[in-house]
Amino acid sequence: MNHSYRAAILRFDADRQPVYEADGLLVIGPDANGRQVVQAVGDHAGVARRFPDVPVEDWRGKLIAPGFVDMHVHYPQTDVIGAPADGLLPWLENYTFPHETRFHDAAYARSVADFFFDELQRNGVTTALTFATSHPASVNAAFEAAQARGLRFMTGKVLQDRNSPDGVRDETEQSLIDTETLIQRWHGVDRLGYAITPRFAPTSSPEQLRGAGALAAKYGDVWIQSHVAENHDEVRWVGELFPDASSYLGVYGDAGLLRRRAVYAHCIHLDSGDRALMRESGAAAAVCPTSNLFLGSGFFDFAAADAAGMRYGLASDVGGGTSFSPFKTMLAAYYVGREGQTKPGLSLTPSQLWWQHTAGAADGLGLGGLVGNLLPGYEADFVVLNPQATPLLARKTQQTNSLEELLFALIVLGDERVIERVHTA
Ligand code: GUN
Ligand code: ZN
Repeated sequence: MNHSYRAAILRFDADRQPVYEADGLLVIGPDANGRQVVQAVGDHAGVARRFPDVPVEDWRGKLIAPGFVDMHVHYPQTDVIGAPADGLLPWLENYTFPHETRFHDAAYARSVADFFFDELQRNGVTTALTFATSHPASVNAAFEAAQARGLRFMTGKVLQDRNSPDGVRDETEQSLIDTETLIQRWHGVDRLGYAITPRFAPTSSPEQLRGAGALAAKYGDVWIQSHVAENHDEVRWVGELFPDASSYLGVYGDAGLLRRRAVYAHCIHLDSGDRALMRESGAAAAVCPTSNLFLGSGFFDFAAADAAGMRYGLASDVGGGTSFSPFKTMLAAYYVGREGQTKPGLSLTPSQLWWQHTAGAADGLGLGGLVGNLLPGYEADFVVLNPQATPLLARKTQQTNSLEELLFALIVLGDERVIERVHTA
C-alpha cells in the first residue's frame, strides 16, 4: 500500500546540488522485497497525476528532507558529554575508560542504548555508525534496540588489548573470536551491519590490528571504524609505538584496515600522502567538529580534503562531541571550516553542510543508493521539519529569499524542536 506526503521537499542530485520543491509530493510504499522505499518524488502536480489514488498526508508549511546520517558516535558515551579535560588522552583516562567499564552489564547497556536511540530519533538521525565498548554485551544491547526500532544501524565490539585499564582492556585472541561471532550473529540481519572496531592504534597490539585486518578481508562488506590523527600527543605516541610505519594512517594501511566502508574519525593531522592514501583506499573521514572544538584537537581541513578527492562526512562523536543535533554539528562544521583572520579556510555553503550530514555521509559509509537521499528506490527514512518551530525561527524564515538562506536559518537557529516527525522505513 502506497502512502504520500505533501510538503516542501529537499533532496540532492548526483553533483551534490540541492533539489528543492516548494510544493512537493513524496510517495512511499513497499518494493518487491517488502521494504518501504521511495516510489516517486517531485513537484506535487506532476507526481499526483501519476498516483491519483494514493492517500495524501498534508504537511504544507513543513519541509521533508532525508533523515540525517551520523558517521561516528559512541552510544556508551551518552553520559560522558561535557566532561572537561586538557585534551584527548586525559579525557579518555579520567572519564571515558572508567565510564565504559559499566557496559559489561547487559541490562545497563540496554538502558543506555534505549535512551541513545530515543535521542537520535528526537534529533532526526535515522542511521548511525556507532562505537559500542569492548564488552560483547554492549554490542548485543545496541543491535537489539536498533532492531526493535527498524533502524539501519552499524556497531561493533571495541578492540583494545593494551594501554587500557582493567575493565575495558580485552585479550587479543578472544577479542578476535568475539568479533567473528558477533559478525556472524548480526551482520546483514534486517537493516543491521557489523563494524570491526579497533579503538585506535595506541590501544591495540600489532597482532590485534593484523587480526582485525584479516577479518576485514574475510568479511569484505562489514564496516571498519577507528580514530586517526585527532591530537598531537596521540600522533606522537603512535610514532613511538609504531616506529616503522610511514605515518599514523599508514599503521592501519599496513594492517589491512583501509578500504571502502572503513571510516576514520577526525583525520585532522594528516599530510598530503595520508590524504592520497584515503582517496586511493576508498576509506572515509568522519568529521567531528563539536568534538574537535570541545577537546581542542584542531580544525579539519575541508579544502585539503577536497583537493585530495577523499571521502568525508559529518559526525557528532558524542561524548567527545557535545550534541546529538545535526544542526549543531553542521553549524560547528561551518565554524571549523571557514576562513578567519588567523587561519585560512572555506566558508561551506548551507546546502553543502546539509549534504555532508545526509547523502555525503551515506556515500562515505558505502550506503549510497540506500539512505541519505530521497530518490526512487531509496529506503524511506526521512524527517519532517518545521521552519516555524520557535518564535525566532518563524520570524527569520519568513524573511528568507532563497533555499540557501532557509537552510542557513535552520542550521544556525535549529535544534530538536525543528524535528516535527521522523519516518523510518
Ligand atoms: N580516540 C580513541 N578513543 C576515542 C574516543 O572514545 N573518543 C575520541 N574522540 N577519540 C578517541
Ligand atoms: Zn570517537
